[in-house]
Amino acid sequence: MSLRDRRVQYETAGLDRSDLHPDPMTQWKRWYDEAESAGVTEPNAMTLSTIDADGIPDSRVVLARGADERGFVFYTNLESTKSRQLENGGASAVFAWLDLHRQARVRGTIERVSDAESDGYFASRPRGSQIGAWASPQSQPIADRAELERLVESTTQRFAGVEVPRPPYWGGFLLRPSSFEFWQGRPSRLHDRFRYTLTNGGWDVQRLAP
Ligand SMILES: Cc1cc2nc3c(=O)[nH]c(=O)nc-3n(C[C@H](O)[C@H](O)[C@H](O)COP(=O)(O)O)c2cc1C
Repeated sequence: MSLRDRRVQYETAGLDRSDLHPDPMTQWKRWYDEAESAGVTEPNAMTLSTIDADGIPDSRVVLARGADERGFVFYTNLESTKSRQLENGGASAVFAWLDLHRQARVRGTIERVSDAESDGYFASRPRGSQIGAWASPQSQPIADRAELERLVESTTQRFAGVEVPRPPYWGGFLLRPSSFEFWQGRPSRLHDRFRYTLTNGGWDVQRLAP
């Protein structure tokens, strides 16, 4: 089917102001739990957007590995393109739970999580992923797949018989939200949208036109 003729009607119950929890993180957790229960693939996947030195946005998917009162934690190579771009200021992320006709958007500031927190998460990863974190110079050009495999092989030998420590160039970032938006698809593109904005006194909530 042509892209222009693809059309999904969003027959959902909708989202009302009274449905929303006053704390957007609690609201996010509710929607996350519903996405997980509905069998959405990788419901913790978020498209993370950063800006480069020229002010041009860049986006890629990462997995949220923590969501608590501080915000969202994700892990990555600290020398990657995204990590360099994160030095330019804040970031935004969108969780697209398309099976539920929902998206949750988050904007905020970025900070590194503590070494202890990164160590704890790194230690919980499968060994293959730990080796991969050492071996892959994420975002750098490499000649071919064989080069990557050689890097993995030499890293595997280097750590043979010992626990793999966290590489100094790998760790976690916290996206600390200053705004959220919850979007629920409705028929005829008359969707429900609510934006939470952080103010001195707490979170302001507004309905937005679709
Ligand atoms: C489902 C999915 C999950 C991913 N999770 C992560 C992640 O948690 N951390 C990460 O560094 N890259 C993750 N990636 C890869 C990134 O999208 C991206 O290719 C990589 O981080 C390099 O991005 P950069 O060059 O902009 O830094 C994931 C990709 C997909 C499709």
